[in-house]
Amino acid sequence: MVLVSGANGAGKTNLLEALHVGTQGFSPRARSDAYLVRFGESSGRVALEGTRADVGIEVDVVLAPGDTRRLRLNGDTLRSAEELRARLQTLVFTPDRLGVVKGGPAARRAYFDRSLGRLFPSRAQLPGEYGTAVGQRNAALRRVSAGLASPDALRPWTERVTELGSTLVVARQETLALLSPSFEHAAASLGLPEATLAYEGDAVTSEQLQARLARDLERGATGAGPHLHEIRIEAGRRDLRSYGSQGEQRVAVLALVLGEKAVISERSVPPLLLLDDVLSELDGDRRRALGELISDGGQTIVTATAAAALPVEPSQSLFVTPGAVVVA
Ligand SMILES: Nc1ncnc2c1ncn2[C@@H]1O[C@H](COP(=O)(O)OP(=O)(O)OP(=O)(O)O)[C@@H](O)[C@H]1O
Ligand SMILES: [Mg+2]
Repeated sequence: MVLVSGANGAGKTNLLEALHVGTQGFSPRARSDAYLVRFGESSGRVALEGTRADVGIEVDVVLAPGDTRRLRLNGDTLRSAEELRARLQTLVFTPDRLGVVKGGPAARRAYFDRSLGRLFPSRAQLPGEYGTAVGQRNAALRRVSAGLASPDALRPWTERVTELGSTLVVARQETLALLSPSFEHAAASLGLPEATLAYEGDAVTSEQLQARLARDLERGATGAGPHLHEIRIEAGRRDLRSYGSQGEQRVAVLALVLGEKAVISERSVPPLLLLDDVLSELDGDRRRALGELISDGGQTIVTATAAAALPVEPSQSLFVTPGAVVVA
């Protein structure tokens, strides 16, 4: 476990962000590569060296906003960030991630669909394919309402949406079933007992979509299906979105990340864990419990403004000042 400390604005989050870009091919916070490139420069680069299960890894990512990213892994050019993610796994907690618990259902769907991709790599494309199919069906609905196409034109899209939709619902339920035990365990260790994840929503059939066609045509949007489903995160039957305290919400997000780490570690190589600003709002007991949870297996990098905030001894302590990282 590596502890990264430094003052506000020193660059701790930037450092974790660079590790995320270098191992996953995208930033957990910036929407566009333009934010990642140093002010006044036209391109940026992340070069990483490390090992994964004793095998050497060298990654080189070049970001040139407006141009496609260039990714290289051990000298080979990769066609997409998915190829990088299939080889290296990184889980991240940042304060923005609280949106997974606090935000609307779309934030939870997006989060769990990423977990789905990490836990079932062969189905990683499924959420995107389903989203594309819904978009195409919605476009067809609007063409039909505008009198530019006959309702028959909807049939292939309706079929694709229902087929991919039912596969997606099953994959999401399997993802939650796989995550739940370790999520519950991590949450309980962090002082949040009886935490549960529950999927809300059923796959829709073509008949059900047909039955609501008039409404969907009027709105120009497919009004039922997994793109509208909810994943409830509860503790002791309380929905943490509405009733969780700030600290409980933080613990729930952390437990999701730690739970997924446990699942991945059981099946293959432990992922890299990046925990940004995780200690604020956690009381002493929870900090100690977290320290123990992250000390077993895999590499974890934790940031804090004060090195003393973490009650366990890190294997390495780094100190960040603007533009420089030194071993403390
Ligand atoms: N593209 C950029 N080019 C240069 N500097 C940037 C760029 N994007 C952000 N910064 C600056 O980098 C600095 C460090 O930000 P960072 O978020 O890493 O700090 P931090 O150490 O995590 O602070 P905190 O403890 O407050 O979370 C900020 O002052 C920010 O304005
Ligand atoms: Mg920060």
